[in-house]
Amino acid sequence: MNVQAKPLQLALAAGLIFGLGMAPAQAANPCNPCAAKAKNPCAAKNPCAAGAAIDPKTITRPAGYKPYKGDAAALLKEGEKLWNDTKLSTNGMSCNTCHQGHASFEAGFVKPYPHFVQMAKDQAGLKKVHLDEMVQACMVMPMAAKPLGWESRELAALTAYTGQMQKTFKPVKAKAANPCATKNPCAAKNPCAAKK
Ligand code: HEC
Repeated sequence: MNVQAKPLQLALAAGLIFGLGMAPAQAANPCNPCAAKAKNPCAAKNPCAAGAAIDPKTITRPAGYKPYKGDAAALLKEGEKLWNDTKLSTNGMSCNTCHQGHASFEAGFVKPYPHFVQMAKDQAGLKKVHLDEMVQACMVMPMAAKPLGWESRELAALTAYTGQMQKTFKPVKAKAANPCATKNPCAAKNPCAAKK
C-alpha cells in the first residue's frame, strides 16, 4: 500500500504545480501507463518537427517510367494490405497510422493530380506531384524508408489504393490556426493525451 501511496502523492503534487491537464506531470508518475514513451507511437514522429529536406529526385518519376500494370481489383487488395503494413517503414508506422479515416490529408487532396502538396513543397521543393510520387514522398519522409521500386507492384498497389481513397475524401472545413497542428497526424491520436 505504501508503495502505491508515494507516487500518488507525487502525482497530486505535480498536478498542483502544473495545473489542469498539463502533460509534463505524466513522466514523473510511474502509475501512469502513459508515462512509458513506447505507448505513444507518435511521440518522436511529428512530421512537422522532422521536416528535413530531401532530394526531389528521390520522389520524382524517372525518365521512361512505366508503372506496373495489373488487375485493378488485385492491386487494390494488395494496396490495402500495404497501407496497414508497419514493415514498410523504419519507424514502426504504417500509412494508416497517419491517414486513418482520411487524417493528414489536406483539402487539396481532392484535386486531380499532379497538384500542389505542402509537404512536397516544404521538404522537396516540388510545386506539383503525381499521386505515385506522393506515395514515394510519404515512404521517404514520414515513413523514413527507401522509396519503393518505381515499376514495382507495391507502388502500383499503394497508388491504386490511395487513388480510391481520394474519391471518397471530403475536406474538413474547420482548420486549426496552427498550420503544424493540422499536419501532426499524431496530435489527435496520442492515446495518452486523450485520457488526461
Ligand atoms: C507520419 C505521418 C504519415 C505517414 C506515416 C504517411 N503519411 Fe502520407 N501524408 C502525411 C502528411 C503530413 C501529408 C501531407 C499533407 C499536406 O502537406 O498536404 C501526407 C500526404 C499524403 C498524400 C498526398 C495527399 C494530397 O494532398 O495529394 C498521399 C497520397 C499520402 N500521404 C499517402 C501515404 C502513403 C501511401 C503512406 C504510406 C506508405 C503515407 N502517406 C504515410 C503524413 C503521413
